[in-house]
Amino acid sequence: MALWAGRFSKEVDETVNAFNSSIAFDARMYAQDIRGSIAHATMLGECGIIEKSESEAIIAGLKEILKDIQDGTLEFDPNAEDIHMFVEAELTKRLGSTGKRLHTARSRNDQVALDIRLYLRDEMQKMQKLIDELTLTICEIAQEHTETVMPGYTHLQRAQPITFAHHLLAYAQMLRRDNDRIFDAVERMNECPLGSGALAGTTYPIDRFMTAELLDFYRPVANSLDGVSDRDFCIELCCALSILMTHLSRFSEEIILWCSWEFKFVELDDAYATGSSIMPQKKNPDVTELIRGKTGRVNGDLITLLSMMKGLPLAYNKDMQEDKEAIFDAIDNTELCLKTFIPMLRTMRVLKENMRNAAAKGFINATDCADYLVKKGMPFRDAYKITGTLVAKCIEKNLTLETLPLEAYQEMTDLFTEDIYQAISLDTCVRERKSYGAPSPDAVKKQLADLMEALA
Ligand code: ARG
Repeated sequence: MALWAGRFSKEVDETVNAFNSSIAFDARMYAQDIRGSIAHATMLGECGIIEKSESEAIIAGLKEILKDIQDGTLEFDPNAEDIHMFVEAELTKRLGSTGKRLHTARSRNDQVALDIRLYLRDEMQKMQKLIDELTLTICEIAQEHTETVMPGYTHLQRAQPITFAHHLLAYAQMLRRDNDRIFDAVERMNECPLGSGALAGTTYPIDRFMTAELLDFYRPVANSLDGVSDRDFCIELCCALSILMTHLSRFSEEIILWCSWEFKFVELDDAYATGSSIMPQKKNPDVTELIRGKTGRVNGDLITLLSMMKGLPLAYNKDMQEDKEAIFDAIDNTELCLKTFIPMLRTMRVLKENMRNAAAKGFINATDCADYLVKKGMPFRDAYKITGTLVAKCIEKNLTLETLPLEAYQEMTDLFTEDIYQAISLDTCVRERKSYGAPSPDAVKKQLADLMEALA
């Protein structure tokens, strides 16, 4: 018999029971549910809404239930409607009528709104640690590669020379913002919905500030309707995870490219690659491909949440039970991706020579050749045009700007002298890109130091 069976003259149909039930996926919030109930029972006792002795018995009972779940002596009942009903029923089984007093001045609507917030707050702490760990891993690899020249690309065409460290730190910056986004969302979420009741608060003299404080929230949610209806925080966090996954996915896509024979910039450790069932020569970057694939899945979770909420009248509607699987799936998969990506990156071999060889082709010093003329007084547009002509000449003669004879340069303008070769050498091109945030080793070391300081 359900706890709410009083009004009903029949048992609920079996299929409806199974359809309605959420314990299969909300049981994971048991610790948060019990923590919330302990705070609620404490407040009920302090405010004289139930006897102090009963409040104490309830708290002791809840603590025992928590322990029994944790050590495996108490199993979740798949027939319980949800985790809230399960804990309350178990409490009543143990305490008799005292257990039945716990739900005074509370509804499952404010209870579930509380539990998800507590759960997300806990999970996001783990997530932020993982993001920091990945950022640190990236910084450590970057430290080794401030002089490792590679081509920078636009349109996937070689564009200008950068270093591998500079490329890596672009991701470190994205991850820093990802972490900030999660921090901000958790800050905004940190208001306590408990005491909103079903939707309209309660006539009991509850103290919402007390429960908010007991549960480490900044304050109670200001409007009881909002307290039980709001799932913005799920959407906002899922969006932050979606953006984070998008960053991991772009990084993964680059690693996939870099592993190919066409690039060969990196090689994955054997422990983080997989083979083919038919082609004996293959070493596939499955981990990165899966991360790219799972990004679509997390984006799907975000769309699930947005679509689920968009037409709901206030306040609680059962549709909202669907929030959990979506946000849990987003969290589980993002966590999994971070946990796999970190050691994969840490063990990845960087093939510096190949990076440098690629940078030596593709005229990535053409901008520097134009800048050379500008520094000698020529307007940039004229310098640009002359350099374009020189590149065309090189392509025609199968030469590079480094191997094109000085006479060919001087045919265009006598501003060119012997020092052009020094000016367009790869090392000069990288070293002289020393504007704030640019790839020169000094500028990158500064960026690295700032990142490391923020991480510490
Ligand atoms: N399992 C429900 C959920 O996840 C708990 C809230 C139920 N409230 C209700 N009025 N039926 O949303």
